[in-house]
Amino acid sequence: MAILKLIDITKFYEAKRNIFSLKQSLVRAVYKVNLNLKQGTTLGLVGESGCGKSTLAKIILKLINPTSGTVFFEDKNITRLKEKDFRPLRRGIQIVFQDPYSSLSPRLRVKNIISEPLIAFKTPRKEIDNRLKELIYQVGLNEIHLERLPHQLSGGERQRVGIARALATSPKLLVLDEAVSSLDLSTQAQVLNLLKALQKKYKLTYLFIAHNLSVVRYISDEVAVMYHGVIVEQGKSEAVYKKPLHPYTQLLLSSMPSPAKKGTRLSVKDVNGLNMNGIKGCGFYANCSKRTDKCKCEIPRLVEIEKSHWVRCVCIV
Ligand SMILES: Nc1ncnc2c1ncn2[C@@H]1O[C@H](COP(=O)(O)OP(=O)(O)OP(=O)(O)O)[C@@H](O)[C@H]1O
Ligand SMILES: [Mg+2]
Repeated sequence: MAILKLIDITKFYEAKRNIFSLKQSLVRAVYKVNLNLKQGTTLGLVGESGCGKSTLAKIILKLINPTSGTVFFEDKNITRLKEKDFRPLRRGIQIVFQDPYSSLSPRLRVKNIISEPLIAFKTPRKEIDNRLKELIYQVGLNEIHLERLPHQLSGGERQRVGIARALATSPKLLVLDEAVSSLDLSTQAQVLNLLKALQKKYKLTYLFIAHNLSVVRYISDEVAVMYHGVIVEQGKSEAVYKKPLHPYTQLLLSSMPSPAKKGTRLSVKDVNGLNMNGIKGCGFYANCSKRTDKCKCEIPRLVEIEKSHWVRCVCIV
C-alpha cells in the first residue's frame, strides 16, 4: 500500500523585488514531482544543495502549501486540509532534521524534548513516564540521558534524541531531512543501523533526504535523484547505482567519495533555482556533457526506460 503519494507537486516561492527591478520574480523550487512511498520501505531523495529537497519535505509535513499538485497520505488527500482536520493525521508523519543542535531546544532537558509531542497529542500524564523510558531505550540511550540538556550529549546522541521525539507519536512515515549529514562516518553508520532496525520493528516508511549518495544507497529501497526541483532519475536502488542513466546521476556517482578518490567534490556549477523564465528546457543543460539543441527547447518527460527505472533525458530515450 502507498503510504504517501505526491502528484505533480510544484512550488514557486516569491522572490523579493530588488532595487534594480520592480518585477516580482518567482523561484521554482519544486516542479511537477510525482513520488510513491510504499509502507515499510525507504525512498532516498538525493540532490545538491538548493534543489528543492527540504521544500518537498515541508510540503509533505504541511508546513507550507504547494503552488499546485496533490499530496495523499494513506489515500487521503491532505493537500488543502485545514489544520484542525489534519491534526489527527499529523501524528502519523514526523520529521528528523539535519542539525539536532538547532532543532532541539537548548534549554529543555531530553525528557521534556521527547514528551513535547506526547503532551501536544494529549497523552495521559501517567503514561508519559513509561513512554519516555520506552522511547529512550528504543534509540539506544538510557534513563540517564533523559535528565541531560542537548549540549551535554554527543552529536550522535542528540540525533538519537531527535529520532526518539519523532517516534513519540508512533508515526507511520518519517521524513529524515539530512538526518545523518552532520555526523562523522562511524556515528552515521550507527544511526543508519538504528533507523534500519526501527523500520523493521515498526514497519516504518522513510523518506530519506541526503546529498550523499553512499548514505542513501545503504538505506534506500528506491532512489529519486533531483536537480533544480525536478526528478531526473528514479528507480530501485540497485538499478540506479548499477546503471545510472541520467548524466547528472552519473556525475553524482562519479563524485562519490571512495577510498581511491577521497574528498572528491561535486563539480556541478552552483546555480540558483530557475525562475519562471527559465522553465523551458532541461535544467541540467548548462552542465551536461551530452547536451544537444533539443535539450534547450523543452523539459524532457520522465520516461520508464527499464521496468521501474525512470529517466528524464532526451538523449537517452
Ligand atoms: N521561503 C523561501 N523563499 C524564497 N525562496 C526559497 C524559500 N525557501 C527556499 N527557497 C529556495 O528554493 C530552492 C530550494 O530550497 P530547499 O531548501 O528546498 O533546497 P534543499 O534541496 O533542501 O537544499 P539543502 O540541501 O541546502 O538543504 C532554493 O533555491 C532556495 O533558495
Ligand atoms: Mg534542505
